[in-house]
Amino acid sequence: MKPLVFVPGNTALETVQCILKGRGEKPASSAKACAPVNIALVKYWGKRDEALHLPVTDSLSVSLSGLDTETEIHAGEKPDRLELDGRAITPEAPALSRLSAFLDLFRLSPAMGFSVRSHNAVPTAAGFASSASGFAALVRALDSLFSWHLERRELSLLARLGSGSACRSMYDGFVEWRAGSREDGLDSYAIPLPEVWPDLRIGLWTVSAEEKPLSSREAMHRTTQTSPLYSAWPQTVAADLLSLREALRARDIERFGQVLEGNALAMHATMLAARPSIFYPTADSLQAQARVRSARAAGTGVWFTMDAGPNLKLFFLERERPSVEAQFTGLRVVPTGASVAEERRSAR
Ligand code: PMV
Repeated sequence: MKPLVFVPGNTALETVQCILKGRGEKPASSAKACAPVNIALVKYWGKRDEALHLPVTDSLSVSLSGLDTETEIHAGEKPDRLELDGRAITPEAPALSRLSAFLDLFRLSPAMGFSVRSHNAVPTAAGFASSASGFAALVRALDSLFSWHLERRELSLLARLGSGSACRSMYDGFVEWRAGSREDGLDSYAIPLPEVWPDLRIGLWTVSAEEKPLSSREAMHRTTQTSPLYSAWPQTVAADLLSLREALRARDIERFGQVLEGNALAMHATMLAARPSIFYPTADSLQAQARVRSARAAGTGVWFTMDAGPNLKLFFLERERPSVEAQFTGLRVVPTGASVAEERRSAR
């Protein structure tokens, strides 16, 4: 791998210029790409640099292969256009201004515009990590549009500039995002982990498919600035990462589940103590959490995590599936391990 060269100054544009130096002067007219949703097991919560989306801590996720965002991009004239899940997004909508701000990093002239059509396999902006797969798919589509032929690590760095957690959606399977320590963020990208877990299952439990009222960006900012509990977060993450890596290596579902559920609740606790307080779970989410706990008390090995939204993701092994499905009728179960093992083998 070639070394990345330090660029003085720390703006997103400088990161992009450093990575793209001299590449892609002539775009194709259109390109398509996809990227998987990823669910954090040890969460990213809080930035050391807000403009560059540099995290305070490392984080660890699993990608849901097969649950992708598919994105098609056309190069043309301004204004930018966005169609999301078949709906045209109005120019005033935050999703379009966020997209345009990101695309500003890649225009070859001020008049250049893009038309983006994106389809999410999960409800958009409802805490199912659609922005992560969305920005990862977009970066892959741009790579193909401009024929950059970037390495995966560089694509991960670029995706991070759109949405921090998007850097992890550049890979399938278990993935770690190393926070890095450089001011320019060139050492802050995702790396794939070698572990596979063929009989691990994830169930998506949709409490609400509505868009969340507060973006994770805003919530993260308020938490780091005002929550008296935030100072304990980095140590919590460091300890949880160690435990989770061990649990993963040993395929110890009990420990794995305890760490991922505890980490999610600790993240929500930091938010709860923010001022004003942030609380993503609804009454239905709390009821679902209680059902997971009673399922466990009755002997079913199932644990949950939650992100910046009201929905739950349940983790369990294939052998528990009948019992989990009986208690959560309509659960959307996604396999993660077996397909990943096959993909990794063919990529080697
Ligand atoms: O990348 P963002 O800004 O959408 O933040 C994601 C934050 C969480 O989903 C709550 C945690 C994570 O690590 O994905």
